[in-house]
Amino acid sequence: MVGIDRINYYTPRTYLDMTTLAEARGVDPNKYIKGIGQEQMAVLGEHEDIITMAAEAAAPILDDKDAIDLIVFATESGVDFSKAASIYLQHLLEIPNPVRAIEMKQACYALTSGLHLATDFVKSHPGKKALVVSSDIAWYGFETAGEVTQGAGAIAIIVAENPRIARVNSGVPYTEDVPDFYRPNTSDVPIVDGKFSIDCYNKALIETFPKHTYKYVGFHMPFAKMADKANRILEEFAISDDALTCVKSYSKTIGNIYNGSLYLALIGILTHADDLSGETIGMFSYGSGSIGEFFTLDIVEGYDNYMDTDAWQTHLTSRHALDMKGYEQAMNAFMAREKMHDYAYQDRAPEQATYVLSAIRNGHREYQKR
Ligand code: CAA
Repeated sequence: MVGIDRINYYTPRTYLDMTTLAEARGVDPNKYIKGIGQEQMAVLGEHEDIITMAAEAAAPILDDKDAIDLIVFATESGVDFSKAASIYLQHLLEIPNPVRAIEMKQACYALTSGLHLATDFVKSHPGKKALVVSSDIAWYGFETAGEVTQGAGAIAIIVAENPRIARVNSGVPYTEDVPDFYRPNTSDVPIVDGKFSIDCYNKALIETFPKHTYKYVGFHMPFAKMADKANRILEEFAISDDALTCVKSYSKTIGNIYNGSLYLALIGILTHADDLSGETIGMFSYGSGSIGEFFTLDIVEGYDNYMDTDAWQTHLTSRHALDMKGYEQAMNAFMAREKMHDYAYQDRAPEQATYVLSAIRNGHREYQKR
């Protein structure tokens, strides 16, 4: 049996309240809070990028570095067309050099694909483990329709034999070439047909859902209300309102973290559901462009001994709210830095930050562990 041995998430320590954004944009806050389902969204700190976020998520669960034989980094916010982000991560986390390290891309679906790849890899390499991470910055731009569906964060998963949290079962995929959301090399932000993208998501769910009753189904959530929309599609197989509250509990304050959004649903279920031992959880993954996959996880007895739900909750509640000026400064700094060939960070990172992007030299990134 192979699957999720450990799981952790990270999101930046600063966020924007949706009421603040709504007031600045002249929109009724209820549209964002009730219509979109978002209360807050994470905003990237100046010391952070996708690699530091992945390191923050992975470090607390990486207790057996010598056994890691594969690192998969799923992202649609890549920093290099050639070099895999997982190599920066391997160096930063001091994972021994005899390891494979790759990056995977297919919009928000790549983490699910990476999880299945790692599961098969561990099955065929007995005794070895894999580190599977996603890290993304969902950024559509100021005053766009997508602005309210932004966010930033990372997920880290250790895949191993005899997993202590959940066995991973392969699922039903559905691929269709659609122009709902994509980011060509010429564009700093995605090109999105928002309403069409929801239709494509729903179609992929209908094509893959096995018409079976699950107590919990994790949905990919580009915004928290998407889980309500998706759940309605399941009709008589829909999960309960209480289960839906668990599913949305992290996303509604973090926002979209693209690849990791489905796994924030899982973290919400693991945090808030009563004993899940022996339960099979449904998982619907969707990546625009598009691929949908419905698969399942069998939760292992004693799983709750291997998750630090207090730390997960404390991380969320100890974040700092930004005002509009702070949000605009942070995202302007991010956009400017991502175009810089040379960059030096003046260290103002919060004291809790363990990993910092310290410089970019000749396009190559340098990091500090503090
Ligand atoms: N009070 C309460 N509700 C209100 C309201 C108010 N005052 N005003 C509006 N609403 C409701 C609307 O009725 C609507 O509800 P329904 O969806 O149930 O009809 C909801 O708020 C949203 O309103 P609009 O449809 O008018 O919102 P919009 O035109 O601003 O677009 C969006 C919303 C399409 C999600 C847009 O934010 C967007 O394009 N986001 C990015 C794309 C995206 O997230 N797509 C999701 C699927 S693709 C995917 O999953 C991949 C990925 O990660 C991106």
